[in-house]
Amino acid sequence: MAANMNHPPEKKYTRLEKLGEGTYATVFKGKNKVTGEIVALKEICLNAEEGTPSTAIREISLMKELKHPNIVRLQDVIHTENKLTLVFEYMNQDLKKYMDTTSCSRGSLDAQTIASFMHQLLRGIAYCHDQRVLHRDLKPQNLLINHQQELKLGDFGLARAYGIPVNTFSNEVVTLWYRAPDVLLGSRMYSTSIDIWSAGCIMAEMYTGRPLFPGTTNEDQLQKIFRLLGTPSEQTWPGISQFPEYKHKPLEAVYPPQLLSQYVPGIDPEGLDLLTRMLQYQPQLRISAKDALNHAYFNRLRLNN
Ligand SMILES: Nc1ncnc2c1ncn2[C@@H]1O[C@H](COP(=O)(O)OP(=O)(O)O)[C@@H](O)[C@H]1O
Ligand SMILES: [Mg+2]
Repeated sequence: MAANMNHPPEKKYTRLEKLGEGTYATVFKGKNKVTGEIVALKEICLNAEEGTPSTAIREISLMKELKHPNIVRLQDVIHTENKLTLVFEYMNQDLKKYMDTTSCSRGSLDAQTIASFMHQLLRGIAYCHDQRVLHRDLKPQNLLINHQQELKLGDFGLARAYGIPVNTFSNEVVTLWYRAPDVLLGSRMYSTSIDIWSAGCIMAEMYTGRPLFPGTTNEDQLQKIFRLLGTPSEQTWPGISQFPEYKHKPLEAVYPPQLLSQYVPGIDPEGLDLLTRMLQYQPQLRISAKDALNHAYFNRLRLNN
């Protein structure tokens, strides 16, 4: 393993309270015994027989290269016999908890906060995509917020560098609710556009306080998307019938597209335009993170500076 072997965490850091738990890691607050600096310790238990999990190795090698104000900084890697500890800059909470605790009436965030968070999210994504890294698991729990209202991308456990031509990855990568329809349909040729779909879902959720497409299974997830954006066809999405998971059932309901503005009340026309461009069915029609940053929706932030 390329990570440098340091002292065990118990020598360098005092472990404080638990901050969160994910699929294969537990995150604790930690304090550097020498400097007093507060950090986040992401502990990954290692299976003695299997050695370091490949997801962790990927996360480490990727994260060490990613240096940006909107990416959670990986400061240190501590590898002991049965445990891998990633030392990250400390963030106060994730966006999920932030929305649960800070939201005003009806569970939504205020418009200026949403614009600021979306801008920071897209800056982080644009940087990743520029470095040829897909996040692939963007969701409120993986976006971290500090007291300065800075938003940073965390949890690159599933991220990996991608080459040109586009790799064929496993399709079990993005959490269901934020998963792009092309991935749900079994596409393995996806690219940066899958992170943009997730960002669109997150934007809508910040406005409403509820997940936009809370599907329970792969099929239910597609149904929920179709119900709002309309059932796609060869006319609206050329090539759709070629996807592995595309099943044309003649008796199945064909949903007409609904007005997105009705599902996301309180969003203004510019926000709606940006959201619509992020939630395009055809991956190649989805706006890029770089173009999204130049969208008129963000003029409200520029005027303040
Ligand atoms: N740097 C950090 N500062 C504060 N809390 C964090 C930090 N990193 C993670 N957390 C908390 O721990 C949770 C799990 O961390 P995450 O990296 O997403 O692990 P997993 O890969 O297991 O999902 C996050 O959802 C968040 O609440
Ligand atoms: Mg996570």
